[in-house]
Amino acid sequence: MSAAFFTLHDDLPREGPGRAEDVAWALGLGGAMPGARVLDAGCGPGADISALLLAVAPGGHVVAVDAHAPFVHQAERRWGRDSRVTLVTGDMRDVDGPFDVIWCAGALYFLGLLDGLRVMRDKLRPGGLMCFSEMVVRVPAPDADLRAALEAEYPAIGDQTRLKGMIRAAGLDLIGQKILPRASWEAYFQPMEKRIAQLRPTADEDLAAVLDEAEAEIALWRRYWEQFGYALSVVRRPE
Ligand SMILES: C[S@@+](CC[C@H](N)C(=O)[O-])C[C@H]1O[C@@H](n2cnc3c(N)ncnc32)[C@H](O)[C@@H]1O
Repeated sequence: MSAAFFTLHDDLPREGPGRAEDVAWALGLGGAMPGARVLDAGCGPGADISALLLAVAPGGHVVAVDAHAPFVHQAERRWGRDSRVTLVTGDMRDVDGPFDVIWCAGALYFLGLLDGLRVMRDKLRPGGLMCFSEMVVRVPAPDADLRAALEAEYPAIGDQTRLKGMIRAAGLDLIGQKILPRASWEAYFQPMEKRIAQLRPTADEDLAAVLDEAEAEIALWRRYWEQFGYALSVVRRPE
């Protein structure tokens, strides 16, 4: 990530669509789980840690890992002294399980979806729950400029049927799946729009390019939100 990219992203509350309500919905499908050991894989700045702790209280513990050290430093500012949280800078593939729950918001595709599902399945205890969000197309024929943008950003993107097939192929049982609502995207984009407005007047060439790209991403979603989105899936490793 470039310095200009981090100038935009530094201290944003989150790095992808999501809200506490989404965590509560997903973990709620697994029933009560006090004391559970949770992995937040690709935690970014740690936006979901609070809701994860709530879902596994009392006695739960969250191991939050991200490959990008500045995001982990952000999470450390809030959670560094909390004994219920362990923060790790590193690759999610290298964290030792087993976990009762794996939460992975917008980060599994970095591993390749099927490989990522298999790697994470092996870190779950038998019967353990994994909740992950993955970008999907929601219509059979997206508009041409959306298709071009998605192909450039995420060539392997598919629909919910493909996603369900991958889950089965990874040996996981699907418990629930929903498309994240618009509010989850606004929770990501609104703080970013405020930051763009602050930075724009004094941006140099590198930063202006990063701001342009972020604005284009937001505009694409505002125009085409009915045609693509994030599917939040809740799956279980069979006993
Ligand atoms: C779209 S962001 C989502 C962050 C966070 N879950 C959130 O919703 O705010 C994806 C995150 O995955 C992290 N990431 C990508 N590959 C990773 C890997 N192999 N191990 C750990 N983190 C990774 C990135 O650094 C980034 O913070």
